[in-house]
This record gives sequence, C-alpha cells and structure tokens, in this order.
Amino acid sequence: MNPNNKSKVSKSLKIYKKAKKLIPGNTQLISRRSNQFAHGHSPIYGKNSKGSYFTDIDGNVFLDWVNAFSAIILGHRNNNVDTAVKKQIDNGSIFTINSPLEIELAELLCEIIPSSQMVKYTKGGGEACALGIRIARGVTNKDKILFSGYHGWHDWYQSANFLSNPNDGEYPFAGIEAIGVPKVLKGTSIPFSYGDISNLEKLIIENKNEIAAIIMEPMRSDYPPNNYLQKIRKISKDNNIILIFDEVTSGWRISVGGAQKALGVTPDMSIFSKAMSNGYPMGAVVGSKDVMEPASRMFVSSSYWSDNIGISATISTINTLISQNSEIWFEDFGKEFKGIISKICEDSGIEIQCKGVESSPYISFDSIEEYDTKTIKTLCIQEMAKRGIHTNLTFHPSMTHTIKDINKTANALYESLKIVKEAMGSNIENFLDSPISEDPFKRLVK
Ligand SMILES: Cc1ncc(COP(=O)(O)O)c(C=O)c1O
Repeated sequence: MNPNNKSKVSKSLKIYKKAKKLIPGNTQLISRRSNQFAHGHSPIYGKNSKGSYFTDIDGNVFLDWVNAFSAIILGHRNNNVDTAVKKQIDNGSIFTINSPLEIELAELLCEIIPSSQMVKYTKGGGEACALGIRIARGVTNKDKILFSGYHGWHDWYQSANFLSNPNDGEYPFAGIEAIGVPKVLKGTSIPFSYGDISNLEKLIIENKNEIAAIIMEPMRSDYPPNNYLQKIRKISKDNNIILIFDEVTSGWRISVGGAQKALGVTPDMSIFSKAMSNGYPMGAVVGSKDVMEPASRMFVSSSYWSDNIGISATISTINTLISQNSEIWFEDFGKEFKGIISKICEDSGIEIQCKGVESSPYISFDSIEEYDTKTIKTLCIQEMAKRGIHTNLTFHPSMTHTIKDINKTANALYESLKIVKEAMGSNIENFLDSPISEDPFKRLVK
C-alpha cells in the first residue's frame, strides 16, 4: 500500500476477514461486498446513520450517496417513518390474525399507482419479481419470460445465464454461472436489449404464443428513448403478453406512483420495494384486477408478507413524500447537483460527464478510451472515500441531502479528479491501492 494511502477502515477490514469464514461471499447482498467499492478505503461496516450521513465502525463519518442502494429516500432514520414504526411495535409487530393496515396500504397503493387495482405484498424486490412471474405464468398458462433489467436472485431469472457463456463478457450476468439453478429452465427466461424494439419484436416472433410476460425496468438513471415504452405497451397487448414494470429501483424517485406515472405508460403489473418503505423490509406486486385476481387460486403465501412493520413504514413513507412534494424536491435538488458536478467534470480535463435524471444522476466514464474505465472509476471511488464521501459514482439523493452536501461532494470530486488526472499521466498503479472494483453483473438498463 502507498504510504500516503494509509487505511482508515482497519476495524472494518478485520471484521470482513472474519466474515469470509462465516458468511459465503462475505455479505448477504453482492453490492455490499467490499470489492464493489475501493477495498481498503471504503467503509464496510456501519455503526449508525442519520439523515444523509453514516458513521462506520472505525468512527469515520461518511456522506452517503448510496443510501442502502436506493432504499433510503427520505434520509436515514426519518422521524415520521420511525415514529410510525415504533408506535406500531408498541401495538404489535405482527398479529396472529390479519391487520386492517394491510387494507389501508392496498387502498393507498391503488390510489397512487396507475397500474394498481389489486395488490400482494412481499418482503423484498427479487421475491416480489418472482411472485409477479408466478402470477403471470399462472394467468396466461404460458412459461416463457422476456426480460430487460436486474430482477433478483430467483431461479426463473438466473436461468437466463444458461443462454450465454459466463466468461464471454456478454449480458446478462457475465462472470456469474447459474450454479444451483435447474438446467431444465434453460430458455424459459430470455433477455432483450433495452431500447431496441426490433430485438424485442424478433424474440416475440421466435417464441410465438409461448410468452407469458415481458418484465422490464422502465428506466433507472436515464429516461427511456422516445415512445419506447408506449411501443412495448402496444406490442405486449397485441400479442396477449402481460407487461410488468419492475420499479424496485425507479419507484417513488421520479414520482410517488412510479416511473409509470411520470412517463404516462401503464403496465398490467408492477413491482415495488426498496424506497417504498424507506429502509424497512417490504415489497409489493400490484396490477389490474384481470391479472391479479387469479392469484387467489395460486399457492402464493408467506408468514411475514403482512407483518405490521413493513406496512406501517410504507404508509408513512408515501404520506411523507406526498406531504413534502418530493417530486418537485428531487427535480430541483437534482438540477442543482447536476449543474455543480457537471462543472467539476468539465473542468477536470478528463473525458467524463455528469448524466442521468435529476433523482439518480451519475458520472459517466464511457467516453474515456485510452484507459480501463473500471480502474479509473476505482481510483475515483478510493479518493472520494478518503475524503469522507461514500459513492459508487451513481448518486441516490435522499430528501435530507442539502446544498452543503453537494458542495462538499464537489470539493472532494475536484481533489479526487486532480489525482485521477495525474495518475492517468503516469503509472496508475502508484496511486491505486484498492483492487479494481467489480461489477457483479452487466446491467441491461442504465
Ligand atoms: C430493479 C430491481 N429489481 C429487483 C431487485 C432485487 O431486489 P432485492 O435486492 O430486494 O431482492 C433490485 C435490486 O437492486 C432491482 O434494482
């Protein structure tokens, strides 16, 4: 390690070593592995969090742009949500019988989400996707799924890995083998290229009358191409295919009601999780009566799906976002962020840009040609971490981030990019002392 780069996360590194012996792959979420950031400099274990900051177990305070991978939208430990949850704990975190809260939330979701007439709950996003796929297959009596996006760890989805050589760098999951996924599922889930209508049309023709559903992220950090979602809506209707929007990451950020509300395209079914409950485990499958009602005859059932905590957190998160005009807040904050950060990128002399929608901007390294962008990115993440900014260079603001936080980030980025520029002009190895950060999979939707 470069002597100037002394690690300030030594306690984290010690526990991480221990974790290797006790937890396969060290963490429960692949994105929380230290190799996703700058190992040796990025914090790995947290002690507490509040608003837009957290403290790690070494006592370092970090400005948090990752926000539990976008699950935190109101800020850590939001007072309204936490008060609602604590009150609910005092009444019972789960009952033996049903809770009327379950119906209260269902009514609220049907009021705010265009595609929602009936709902089922889960505890997470991948689980909700699996439930949505089960229902779609059950309703249509067809097996095949076309997808574009990241949709979790379940067999229906990971079986797509059998379609490609895990080592050839191609999507969907370069470098990840479908170990443990039944081989008989090969060919049942097929990826399509986001933004390419003819690719989707070709797949529909090749698999005529066999496709139960198209599941896709309607968007992540960039808006969809013009009319793209409208065209998919029409194609899916014309071919009797259920259209599912996976809004686990897009949900609530652009609009409370989902990206579908902001973009004006209503799918048959939608999946929500993460930001829907500001950090409490919750997920939902919502859809039209036609696609959801048949689920009453399917075996879809789980003890914790209707616990009172996730539900009360969700109700409170939605009401808080609405009462604080979140859509306008994210638009204004994002504009401010992008203006300031774009200027730093432009002035850096490096071919980088600040792109993306206001609620999820990111720094794009795609234009850099002479260097491996992963190496450059890792160095930038490392330098930002050394300056107390936790980011993977995609930014998920929460409603507690302030202009002061943007300026703090801009100053750290200015200094970090100066080092990156210097490193690009000499030997990067002399500057980088973290292993190059890894992408667990290639995202189909940016
Ligand atoms: C669009 C999308 N779908 C599904 C998932 C899986 O959600 P979870 O990690 O809660 O299982 C994610 C997680 O990042 C996601 O972004």
